[in-house]
Amino acid sequence: MQADLLIYNAAQVLTVASPEGPKRGEAMDDVGLIPDGAVAIRDGRILDVGPSDELRSQVRAAHSLYAGGYLVLPGFVDPHTHLVWAGERAEEFEMRAAGADYMEIMAAGGGIMNTVRQTREAELEDLVRQSRRRLERMVAHGTTTVEIKTGYGLTVDDELKQLAAIHRLQEESPATLVATFLGAHAIPAEYEGRAEEYVDLVMGEMLPAVAEVEAPPRFCDVFCEEGVFTLDQSRQILKAAQALGFELKVHVDEFSALGGTALAVELGAVSADHLVCTPPEEIELLACSDTIAVALPGTPFGLGQNEYTPARAIIAAGGALALATDCNPGTCWCESMPFMIALACRYMSMTPAEAICAATINAAHALGMGDEVGSLETGKRADLILVDAPSYAHLAYRFGTNLVDMVVIGGQVLS
Ligand code: NIG
Ligand code: FE
Repeated sequence: MQADLLIYNAAQVLTVASPEGPKRGEAMDDVGLIPDGAVAIRDGRILDVGPSDELRSQVRAAHSLYAGGYLVLPGFVDPHTHLVWAGERAEEFEMRAAGADYMEIMAAGGGIMNTVRQTREAELEDLVRQSRRRLERMVAHGTTTVEIKTGYGLTVDDELKQLAAIHRLQEESPATLVATFLGAHAIPAEYEGRAEEYVDLVMGEMLPAVAEVEAPPRFCDVFCEEGVFTLDQSRQILKAAQALGFELKVHVDEFSALGGTALAVELGAVSADHLVCTPPEEIELLACSDTIAVALPGTPFGLGQNEYTPARAIIAAGGALALATDCNPGTCWCESMPFMIALACRYMSMTPAEAICAATINAAHALGMGDEVGSLETGKRADLILVDAPSYAHLAYRFGTNLVDMVVIGGQVLS
């Protein structure tokens, strides 16, 4: 076999292979470990993965890379971020540190609306410039596929500006970006007391406008939450989006359980995200469905709260659980998937193996991209990372420093 690049003698290669779909239940505890492993790459795709001695005798490579002492695994997929925004909310963080509550700050006109104001004011260039630095940090921490939501514009033009920023970032970044329309992220201040009118605007004007851009977003999402969008409003918006060809994601049960998880399952959403206070019967429904459960442990951590997504119950019920950063300026400004793994193992009682599967193959399925990225299997995109650690547990065991030394996207080694 002829390869462009052979990476060999890695202390461990994790394939995280799961050819039948997302990993569920006990299968999440298997990372497809190959000790002293190698990966061969051709034309930007995985050609073969296996023990180093086998691949070295079977593969002739134009370039080879000695990975002694390193861990090699698929690049992380971050399936839930709000990466494109302008400005910051450090003042709100100080208010929260002094005892204020996130939803109270939002009800008083701060929170998401604070960032909406700053994002509306920013020129496209500036929005791209500010977001680019975060995207670069994500890639430096090993993320190779990133979902990015709109939702800080909340007018037709400002939502389109956020989408344009995502497109601009995609033109220049080696990472794969996946856009989600989140016009239903908050009721903007100018619609206070007129939520139904805003819902009509989202359905009647925003969705059709967004569906018509050159490369429309794949997903539509709604923040289904007390004081934000009711269950009925969420259903209306999601159904309208589905009719226009969008696939669905839903922010559910972050602070209050409104029945959003059951709605996500009913509508065949690709993912249901947050799931902090989901009632047991809805966990059961979710686990038996094709909807991926996305946990965002950086959010309760960022808010200093003690309640996290009940990962053990979801996995025990046979659910497919994924992890994401939720990277946003309010609840969790964090670009690092390894930090999410570290949190999941401490506050969600996940094993390092489960957390790694959740951050790779299951996260890929949370974007409907499980056939393309998220594992090292022949034919998939050659998106992988070299981590300066002798075993995969180090990705959970250590935190707060970046152990990712090399990122390969589509077979290209990033410098
Ligand atoms: O996922 N829940 C809604 N949206 C974000 C927070 C956004 C913000 O505070 O700016 C979240 O946590
Ligand atoms: Fe979010």
